[in-house]
Amino acid sequence: MLENQKRKIILDCDPGHDDAIAILLAAGNPSIELVGITTVAGNAEVEKTTLNALKVCEIAGLHDIPVLKGCGQPIVRKRETAPDIHGDSGMDGPVLPEPSKTIEEEHAVDFIIRKLLESDGEITLVPTGPLTNIAMAIRREPAILPKIQEIVIMGGGTFGNWTPTAEFNIYVDAEAAEVVFDSGVPITMMGLDLTHQALATEEVSERIAAIDNPAAKFVSDLLVFFRKTYLEVFGFEHPPVHDVCCVAYCIDPSVVEAKKVRVDVETKGELTYGTTLVDVHGVTGREPNVNFAMKLDHTKFWNMVAEALKSYSKVYSDR
Ligand code: RIB
Ligand code: CA
Repeated sequence: MLENQKRKIILDCDPGHDDAIAILLAAGNPSIELVGITTVAGNAEVEKTTLNALKVCEIAGLHDIPVLKGCGQPIVRKRETAPDIHGDSGMDGPVLPEPSKTIEEEHAVDFIIRKLLESDGEITLVPTGPLTNIAMAIRREPAILPKIQEIVIMGGGTFGNWTPTAEFNIYVDAEAAEVVFDSGVPITMMGLDLTHQALATEEVSERIAAIDNPAAKFVSDLLVFFRKTYLEVFGFEHPPVHDVCCVAYCIDPSVVEAKKVRVDVETKGELTYGTTLVDVHGVTGREPNVNFAMKLDHTKFWNMVAEALKSYSKVYSDR
């Protein structure tokens, strides 16, 4: 990629407190071209995650970025959502105006396929929710596979948060995850091993609260709610902003240390459904298929987030 060339990404998400911050980082960093935001059922029903994506665009002044609604159900299993963590709306906490922006007519899966086929292979897919849309795009049009530059996934890990071994995004649609992990496309995985290092501490919250614009205020309000539910549900002192790690990696891959490993997805086990088997030590002898992120550069990460949020002051001063 040329020095001054922006990295083109499609952010496929289920806003979602951390998804919302990921959108703001993507749109607020000059090295990213946010080609589109596609939504999927995950933290909440797809109608809610889509409305939340539109609300994020509204508060950040992202009027030119297309938002497209995607799949409302997993491919095989019954839908599960996460109201205990994200609230009934999927993004409880902040009080936001109704968006003036509307979604595109095109289905998210068709948008992903069309944009990839039109491209020269320079688009990265960044799924931060269940992988239903990505899997459906691959199955509907396999010709997109050589056109995908990379898939940067928030999901999975060597442990779980929805079951003892399965992480939520993978668990909700493990069949979709299997399609993606077996696709042969270059994959970088931000699993819980990495994202649990991206903790919004008090110091981080104070740093964001000191940024005087509505986008930063929105993030502060998101973190107040997310901190409360993560303490109640998981006993975490600070909430991990999982999805933001994917966008930070797209901006600067050196924000993480990663290792090529084999990852397989369990779709049959009664107790282990949705588990990602991350072969960190190569004991299976199976061909590595994933760049597995293991260590986060906290300073680089939070500096990126702060700089992106500061960039929105210009949005408001230009109004
Ligand atoms: O397990 C964490 C993931 O599930 C994050 O993407 C969060 O937004 C939820 O979708
Ligand atoms: Ca998410």
